[in-house]
Amino acid sequence: MNTEKTLAIIKPDAVRAGKIGPIITMIYESGLAIRAMKMLHLTKWEAEGFYHVHRERTFFNDLTSFMSESPIVVMVIEATDAIARWRALMGPTNPAQAEAGTIRAAFGTTIERNAVHGSDSPESAAQEIPYFFNNLEMYPE
Ligand code: CMP
Repeated sequence: MNTEKTLAIIKPDAVRAGKIGPIITMIYESGLAIRAMKMLHLTKWEAEGFYHVHRERTFFNDLTSFMSESPIVVMVIEATDAIARWRALMGPTNPAQAEAGTIRAAFGTTIERNAVHGSDSPESAAQEIPYFFNNLEMYPE
């Protein structure tokens, strides 16, 4: 058993579309636990800090503008194999390639406006979770 934590974000497109509730329901129905959660409106600078690893990519400016245009919901998800399971529930980065039943198939519109984010490895989870949460904001069960 590999219990791990991952960072999940409901992005501005999905928050504005009223999909916080349906996405949280999908999280619980797939057996994942939410250990921490809050709503934030990132500044452009904060979005740039979060997506620092992508700073050389052509889409960096668009991505960080999008992520700071209106509020997001950030969560810590914990479960056995949480990183892989949350990524499977999200579906691929491009919603056009996402299978029915995934969050991005249901609520994503483009590769940028793809409804949700998840850490892609234990190393990125270990960097991303403390960007938004300290230990006092996480609940063990
Ligand atoms: P996310 O999982 O939040 O991590 C980086 C984000 O960059 C990704 O989801 C996409 O929303 C966004 N993005 C925008 N354009 C591209 C692209 N061409 N390739 C990959 N990711 C992109």
